[in-house]
Amino acid sequence: MNPAKVNSFALPIILTIANLMSSLLIRRIKTLVQAETTPRSIAKGADMAVLPVISNAFLLIEDGKIAAFGPMEGCPDRADRVIDADGKMVFPSWCDSHTHIVFAASREEEFVDRVKGLSYEEIARRGGGILNSARRLQQSSEDDLFESALERLHEVIGYGTGAIEIKSGYGLSLESELKMLRVIRRLKAVSPIPIKATFLGAHAVPAEYKERRNEYIDLIINQMLPAVAAENLAEYCDVFCDRGFYTVEETDRILKAAKTYGLKAKIHANELDYSGGVQVGVANGAISVDHLEYTGDAEIAALQGSDTLPTLLPSCAFFLGIPFGPARKMIDAGLPVVLATDYNPGSSPSGRMSFVVSLACIKMNMLPEEAVNAATLNGARAMELEADYGTIAVGKVANVFISKPIPSLAYLPYSFGSNLVDAVVLQGRVWTPPGNKKS
Ligand code: NIG
Ligand code: FE
Repeated sequence: MNPAKVNSFALPIILTIANLMSSLLIRRIKTLVQAETTPRSIAKGADMAVLPVISNAFLLIEDGKIAAFGPMEGCPDRADRVIDADGKMVFPSWCDSHTHIVFAASREEEFVDRVKGLSYEEIARRGGGILNSARRLQQSSEDDLFESALERLHEVIGYGTGAIEIKSGYGLSLESELKMLRVIRRLKAVSPIPIKATFLGAHAVPAEYKERRNEYIDLIINQMLPAVAAENLAEYCDVFCDRGFYTVEETDRILKAAKTYGLKAKIHANELDYSGGVQVGVANGAISVDHLEYTGDAEIAALQGSDTLPTLLPSCAFFLGIPFGPARKMIDAGLPVVLATDYNPGSSPSGRMSFVVSLACIKMNMLPEEAVNAATLNGARAMELEADYGTIAVGKVANVFISKPIPSLAYLPYSFGSNLVDAVVLQGRVWTPPGNKKS
């Protein structure tokens, strides 16, 4: 084409096409982690310790997708952009399948109450906890919630997260639950990483419904679920099925109603007790049952006969001082453990997947390889994104992070306080935190 003939309308189109066609080559990678030639859709049991890696590798990305990878001997000699990753490792981005990053305010006053000896449940019984967050959220504007959640989204992307699930559940009224879900919809529209939305109207029973909880459940079923479905605001439906929150029967009712609107189950279970949450989740075909600090033989047996994923949230157990879920027992029973942050203001005010991976090794005796599989491939599966995210495989979306120079894979969970992320690549482009744009 004669450049002189390019008019002002054609130029932006040509530039856009040029951007879309860009290629990125990351070469001289010390270790390319989770590089699969035969992609797995999940890692279960003994297979969780299998983490395919290539030493002294290259990774070629074209049009935002992984195009090729392998040992340096086969490295292409050109690309639009080249990064030399000497001494550094490349990982698929973390897939964080359980968060509550839309919230109005932090809760450090409750943290101090717990330091002084109150338990999470005692604080909740006094009207604190989730109800505290709900009061604050009900008073917040959609715009303010969006801005603060976007900041948290950018924070976790900087830690290496490349796919995320976000829940409602601090609204606890029709209007405020929809407000939260609309914030998530706005996040989806601007996010450089995929977001899955979960409706969690049954997070707690609002104070005004304490003596008539059935009426609140009716409100969820008869008003909230239809409204959520009408606006197509969520992929999943969550219930906090635990002591002092929702019973097995109530959970079953809500999940069955959600299913009629096409919302799959993905629930909070067994954080505070052997609640029956795992079993009712499995019975309702839940994608995942999350928390599971209280998991015994009956829960493991229920999970073994199902496709429901057990998701562990060790930074919540760490922060609340409650037992860690029995990851070892689950893996030894052949289950596919998932790890997620549970980023929220009450029980896990941290969205750092690398810390979760460290805790999984330190507190739950997961091998570094098992923890990485749980935080990438299995996390992707817990959001039904495993076809496009969670490992480095040809055709998958090129969401990866490049580590700082590190001596080994095990150094990542070992060095639990360091931020070892050197660069984040999303859809084949080096991501710059907004506000830090180079001029
Ligand atoms: O996953 N356990 C229930 N829900 C959240 C905590 C909510 C809160 O305390 O604000 C969780 O831990
Ligand atoms: Fe949670």
